[in-house]
Amino acid sequence: MTQKDLIPKQEPKKIKSGEVTWQSPSNIALVKYWGKKENQIPANPSISFTLGNCRSTTTLKFTEKETSDNTFEFDFFFEGQPKEDFKPKIQKFFQRIEEYCPYLKDYKFEIHSENSFPHSSGIASSASGMSAIAVCLMDLERQLFPEIEEEYFIQKSSFLARLGSGSASRSLEGGLVVWGEHKNIEGSSDEYGVKFPYDVHEIFKTYKDTILLVDKGEKQVSSTVGHDLMHGHPFAENRFAQAHDNLDKLISVLKSGNTQDFIKIVESEALTLHAMMMSSLPYFILMKPNTLEIINKIWEYREKTEIPVCFTLDAGANVHVLYPEIHESKILEFINNELVVYCQNGHYICDQVGIGATKIDN
Ligand code: DP6
Repeated sequence: MTQKDLIPKQEPKKIKSGEVTWQSPSNIALVKYWGKKENQIPANPSISFTLGNCRSTTTLKFTEKETSDNTFEFDFFFEGQPKEDFKPKIQKFFQRIEEYCPYLKDYKFEIHSENSFPHSSGIASSASGMSAIAVCLMDLERQLFPEIEEEYFIQKSSFLARLGSGSASRSLEGGLVVWGEHKNIEGSSDEYGVKFPYDVHEIFKTYKDTILLVDKGEKQVSSTVGHDLMHGHPFAENRFAQAHDNLDKLISVLKSGNTQDFIKIVESEALTLHAMMMSSLPYFILMKPNTLEIINKIWEYREKTEIPVCFTLDAGANVHVLYPEIHESKILEFINNELVVYCQNGHYICDQVGIGATKIDN
């Protein structure tokens, strides 16, 4: 599918008003997206597990304007309250997608969003939040153009989500999602996420992610600033090549279920992401002392028990603990006995591989 195919060509049906609600999850990258080009094109391909419990629920109410003008009209509410500071982000999003959604200026919108995870948890909400808005808009588009097919619906939702936030493009579908062109992954695209198209071993279909909340504060470095640091970064080209290699290796690891090799790739990706931030100008350390304590404890525990548990990190101090479902009770015991002391107020969130965006009946 090319960008041109994403512009509606027929006459829209007449729809005066309505509302739709969707839930869309967050995701956790195994091979990280860090660095981008113009128009939200990733510098390298990435792959993530779609999560199940960390999600945004978004309602889009739309009313046709009396007279069409040349402005975007919308109000945004977060957890029931008007949230002015999020509006510029949506305004920018609408500007970016207008070409593909020419009906945007014909409607006045009310967007209501809430997250299943605590507001101040340091968990990025842009993936779930932006993908939820994107899929709601596509629901309106499908009402305007009823001939839209399911595959187009999901791909364009992901395409629009990407223009809101890169990682959001990986939240529409369940399981494992790849975003960014990779020579050995058929159908992969820089424009939208696609479901990982090859065999996946049973063990990875129900993987667990327990998110240890080490630091619930505002992000020290916004992702926009972070991605920007890869421009002119001395190790950028090697890093992008490494992401291609790691994704290549993951293809066979995901098929065979080899958790030892999985661990090597996933932990190396997390540490490389942080290493990129430590070696950029300006430089940042996004881990906290407790992040390191947890990593060391996980390594010790893994060595001792031979349970294939590992960690990954986002661009922050929180630690995602990844492990096969069969070890859940042991790992939760380990977390409660040894890791919870490093979490802010002892908080953590239990999550696992989920199914992607789902429609909620109004
Ligand atoms: C570290 O998707 O938040 O989580 O495209 O600027 O919105 P923008 O960036 P964003 O970047 C997330 C980067 C990451 C790694 C990843 O999810 O792949």
